[in-house]
Amino acid sequence: MEIRLVAGAGFCFGVKRAVDTVYEQLQTGKTIYTYGPIVHNEEVVKELAELGVRVIENRQELERLPDLRSLADPRAGTVIIRAHGVPREVQQCMEQKGWEVIDATCPFVKRIHRTVEKKSGQGDHILVVGNPDHPEIQGIVGWCNGPVDVIETVEEAEKYVPPEGKKLTVVAQTTFNYNKFQTIVEILKKKGYNVSIVNTICNATEDRQRDTREVAANADAMIVIGGKHSSNAAKLYEICREVCDNTYFIQTLDDLHLELPKSARLVGITAGASTPNKLIEEVQNYVRINF
Ligand code: F3S
Repeated sequence: MEIRLVAGAGFCFGVKRAVDTVYEQLQTGKTIYTYGPIVHNEEVVKELAELGVRVIENRQELERLPDLRSLADPRAGTVIIRAHGVPREVQQCMEQKGWEVIDATCPFVKRIHRTVEKKSGQGDHILVVGNPDHPEIQGIVGWCNGPVDVIETVEEAEKYVPPEGKKLTVVAQTTFNYNKFQTIVEILKKKGYNVSIVNTICNATEDRQRDTREVAANADAMIVIGGKHSSNAAKLYEICREVCDNTYFIQTLDDLHLELPKSARLVGITAGASTPNKLIEEVQNYVRINF
């Protein structure tokens, strides 16, 4: 029996980079904080907590942390910004408190920050297409130098009226659905606004979905690894179910109760964006040994 792991399963480039940064910084012996959990995976966050990494949950908690400029200890505080990024004023708040700030914002997200900062500085009105409650969107909004709106749905795009006489710069959440973004862009263009579109959607999600579909279509069983609250893992499960009846969704190895038909030749494995490599390898080994 063959086991096929979907290329791009698990951490995307930006999340891997941020998590690696935390492990690297731990080597320095400094006190490490992350602003928000570094990745939406309880196991990883727990492991890091055991190694001494603390999480600053929100802005209020950041405000309450001490101002380090009065302390002589250079190891007192390092804060790592996760891949989603943060609003400019949050970063400034960290710096003003004398904290060492290590920016692990994904370069693709940072590119959006630079775009909206520059374009809004030139007088453009910024329109962000994405989920307004998502930290990535809050970060992007926080880098604008002027007015900004956020829309998420086709209905909102239909109703949207930008300020008169303003040029509109449109960017998207990196994980936004490409087809939906195109529909929204078409609606805005049809309204005859002066629109400049910057496609900021990252391919990592789309590539993972496409490769998952390909493997699942040929597999006798498919294992999807991901957190129960992970929307991208749920999407992978949905894709697999469409083409492979024996699809299993697991959070940890303990959930895996595979019932494979004797004739099974190919088992595929895929994983959501927050699934660490270690877990993917464990599942792979388990299947290899037990079947
Ligand atoms: Fe990941 Fe960065 Fe893309 S965080 S999903 S590689 S924008």
